[in-house]
Amino acid sequence: MNHLMPHPAEIIEKRQENENTYTFRLRFCEEEVQRHYRFLPGQFNMLYAFGVGEVPITLVSDPMDTEFLDHTIRIVGNVTQALARLHVGDKLGLRGPFGSAWPLDKAQGHDVLVLTGGLGCAPSMGAIRYIMRHRSSYGKLAILHGVKAPSDLIYQKKFLEWGKIPNTEVFLSADQADRTWKHKVGLVTHLLDQVNFDAGRVLVMMCGPEIMMRFAVKECLVKGIQADAIYLALERNMKCALGFCGHCQLGPQFICKDGPVLCYDKIKNIFDIKEV
Ligand SMILES: Cc1cc2nc3c(=O)[nH]c(=O)nc-3n(C[C@H](O)[C@H](O)[C@H](O)COP(=O)(O)OP(=O)(O)OC[C@H]3O[C@@H](n4cnc5c(N)ncnc54)[C@H](O)[C@@H]3O)c2cc1C
Ligand code: FES
Repeated sequence: MNHLMPHPAEIIEKRQENENTYTFRLRFCEEEVQRHYRFLPGQFNMLYAFGVGEVPITLVSDPMDTEFLDHTIRIVGNVTQALARLHVGDKLGLRGPFGSAWPLDKAQGHDVLVLTGGLGCAPSMGAIRYIMRHRSSYGKLAILHGVKAPSDLIYQKKFLEWGKIPNTEVFLSADQADRTWKHKVGLVTHLLDQVNFDAGRVLVMMCGPEIMMRFAVKECLVKGIQADAIYLALERNMKCALGFCGHCQLGPQFICKDGPVLCYDKIKNIFDIKEV
């Protein structure tokens, strides 16, 4: 696959997750490209709304099943609005996969704590699906996910299913709840107090708004988790996705190439500075 050139892909399914979020199930139009396409959990594709522009979107599907490629997209601006206007059978451009993956090899034999906020749950989906497929290779899995309001919650069915799997715990929270909300109320960082884990044995995968991740990292460190056991998925404005244009630069790193998944230990000096 030529990583500079978008390949046409067809929308096989379009599912509305909430008011402004859709999951698109895609398949390359060229059989050869589809057959050879592989990705790792945490990697992203550039999706191109023809004539409008390209946006980086993480794959949420099971990396072991590449028949279809699922992407969950929140509608925020020009390109995502153009994508939202597409229907089943329409085509868009797709190039990828790009970037680093969650450290699933390093996590083997460890407990895993997945901590996400808002749409940050999407980039963690591939990792959770992978762990579920190789459940006996990992210790305890705790999934902590927070939303601002109950209506923001997506993948609810999946979270509830995962919560029933042995050695797996799921905790959901909403900053502000209503009567329909059956889970915790408060910030996602408070959920850390609900989980029992051995700080020396756990590996953390985190994704969400940066302000949330800054607080969550601090809490993890206070609980004794080492900086090199904390991994974050970061977002920056992107154009080339190949380390050429510099749009996604964060200090010495290019988020498209060195990230989006980065070890906190490697970026702590710069990540702790707001607005960088
Ligand atoms: C590696 C990576 C993976 C990503 N994965 C996903 C994913 O799986 N699903 C997904 O929906 N998005 C994801 N994003 C974010 C997505 O790429 C942006 O939302 C998108 O580029 C916005 O493009 P746009 O043209 O629609 O909006 P723009 O016109 O670029 O922006 C419109 C407005 O929305 C604001 N905005 C831009 N991005 C965001 C954002 N992320 N959240 C809130 N406001 C924003 C801008 O500041 C601006 O005010 C990812 C980003 C990166 C870097
Ligand atoms: S998007 Fe061009 S260098 Fe990262």
